[in-house]
Formats: sequence, structure tokens, C-alpha cells
Amino acid sequence: MTTPVNVTVTGAAGQIGYALLFRIASGQLLGEDVPVKLRLLEIPQAVKAAEGTAMELDDCAFPLLKGIDIFDNPEAGFDGANIGLLVGARPRTKGMERSDLLAANGGIFGPQGRAINDKAADDIRVLVVGNPANTNAYIAAASAPDVPADRFTAMMRLDHNRAISQLATKLDADVTDIKKMTVWGNHSADQHPDVSYTTVAGKPALDLVDEAWLADYFVPTVAKRGAAIIEARGASSAASAANAAIDHIYDWVNGTPEGDWVTPGIASDGSYGVPEGLVFGFPATAEGGEWKIVQGLDLSETTKAGIQRNIDALVEERDEIKAMGIL
Ligand code: NAD
Ligand code: LMR
Repeated sequence: MTTPVNVTVTGAAGQIGYALLFRIASGQLLGEDVPVKLRLLEIPQAVKAAEGTAMELDDCAFPLLKGIDIFDNPEAGFDGANIGLLVGARPRTKGMERSDLLAANGGIFGPQGRAINDKAADDIRVLVVGNPANTNAYIAAASAPDVPADRFTAMMRLDHNRAISQLATKLDADVTDIKKMTVWGNHSADQHPDVSYTTVAGKPALDLVDEAWLADYFVPTVAKRGAAIIEARGASSAASAANAAIDHIYDWVNGTPEGDWVTPGIASDGSYGVPEGLVFGFPATAEGGEWKIVQGLDLSETTKAGIQRNIDALVEERDEIKAMGIL
């Protein structure tokens, strides 16, 4: 029998965790022939709720689920982990400044990065979902000096999927007809959704929509979708976030389809002028378990400005955490 893949999920008792765990256990994260063992990491107060979710997972009798363990400390939770889905984070609460949020999350992602460094399997691949996802991934990567930085990624796939959906709706197209969407930068309202190279059933998207629609509707709608969902649902996106996490890891491990690319948040190698190490949304393909940034794209002035805005925002966050002594 194939050895099960150890998947550690933090924040397992939260709403994304609830939408994610059953899909992992059913084989949608890695493939329908890949057995998994779940390692759920929570804070002590939420362990009981995680136990309840584990009981439900048991009750599904998933053929691929070969075990569930629950932990309240990162060293144990990441021991032997092959995949880490870092969902648990400190949400912004009333009266909290951005620096407070960064400090609180530094206190989570620093220790988790160190635990991954010391305890995870050699092939560990990490997706950070918890916000601010790009900077949290940067903190975790910087806290794990023995793990290659490219194993730490941040979730931009929800933004990517949102952009595809908006364009498909506008053009009355099928989502599967849309290829080569990109969302540059940070998972925040600064992000830059970009259809410069997107095709719709083989035709350039730029021939099908006008600039005013892109600037006045498409970009702000995609960039502010998270806030619009919070406003409508009274809670942040959960099932769509879990779905994007599944898409990200599935593609990373199994490869992206020929002739298309997707958007992961990955450590910059300096491509497109993004400072090395910043975790940034890039157009990328995956092959053999590695992300490769799509190279050689000519960028419009609008795209260049969008990338620069995101570099500025992420450099500011990076400098703030350094000034606070988190790294
Ligand atoms: P939630 O509040 O329902 O659940 C979070 C869970 O994390 C809780 O159960 C909490 O106990 C746990 N947790 C907190 N600190 C922890 C720690 N140190 N170790 C382990 N677990 C810990 O939140 P949610 O709706 O599931 O969202 C989780 C995160 O994902 C939030 O930060 C949210 O903003 C973010 N998010 C990101 C995206 C994206 O596209 N990147 C999309 C949606 C939500
Ligand atoms: C989203 O994009 O849906 C979330 O990141 C929003 C949030 O702030 O949790």
C-alpha cells in the first residue's frame, strides 16, 4: 500500500477548516489514489471542537483517510508533515491596528515556521491561508532557515478564481474557456488582477472587454470581493477559500495543465523587479512539485504600476515586522 501523506491543518476547528478537511479526506487535495493522515493543530481552547470535527470525519468512512491526530502545540502538529495548510490566524478585532495584527500573527507564524524547520518531513510544502497571508508566509519561511524558501507559499488562488469567474460572467463564457489569468501581488485590496495575457476560448481578453470595465469594475470587484463577502455573509469566505487551497496544493503537487498558468503567492526570485524573498502573486506553472514563475512577459504601464503598489505594501509590512523584532 502507498504510504499515507501527512497533512497538517492549523485552525482546523475554524470555518475554513470545516470546509477543507472533508475534501482533503475524500482525495481532492492530492488525488483520488493518495491515502492521507490528518494532523489537526489548534489552540487548546478549540481542541474539543476539533475533536468533534474528527468524529464527523470518522463517520464519513473515507477510504483514503488513514488516521486523524489532534495537537495543541506546533512541534507535535508538524512532526513528519509533508503538507502544511496554515489556516489558523489571529483575526483583526475592533480597535486593533495593523501593527497589532502583524505582531499577533508573528507570534503564531514564527513558532510554526520553526516547528516546520525542526520537525516536518524533507519534502514539506506549505500553503499559508491565514491573513495577512503573504507576510505570514514570509515570517514562516524566514523562521525555517533549513527549508528552501520556495516551499512556503501564500494563497492567491482565491483571487485568481474570483478573477476568472468575474470575466466569465461578463462575457457569458465558460470558466474552462478562460486561460492565463494573473493576480499580481498581495492578498489584499492592493492586489492587481490582470487580463493582459488572458484568453477566452482562444481570443485575447483585451479584445473582448474595454479598459473602463477593467479599471472601474473588474479590478475593484475582484480586489474587494473578500470584504463584500464579509458584508453579505457576516463572516469571511470559507468554502471558496477552502476550494482555492485545494486547487493550489493539487496543482503544485500534480502539475498545472499544458497551455495555462495559475496564481500562487511564492517567494520572489527577483522576477519582474519584485525584491527577492517577498511572497508575491505571480503567474506560474507547476511541474515536478515545483512552481516556476512565467518569464518574459511584456508588462503594460498599468500592470507595472499595480506590481509596484504591491511591492510597496509588502515591503512596508516586511519592514514593520523587522522593526518590531519579530524576525
Ligand atoms: P476562524 O476564526 O473560523 O478559524 C480560525 C481558527 O484558527 C480557529 O479555530 C482558531 O482557534 C484557530 N487558531 C488561532 N490561532 C491558532 C494557532 N496559533 N494555531 C492553530 N490554530 C489557531 O477563521 P476562518 O474563517 O477559518 O479563517 C482563517 C484565516 O483565513 C483568517 O485569517 C482569514 O482572514 C483567512 N482567509 C484567507 C483567505 C485567502 O484567500 N488567503 C481567504 C479567506 C480567509
Ligand atoms: C477573503 O479574501 O475572502 C478573505 O481574505 C477576507 C478576510 O479578510 O478574511
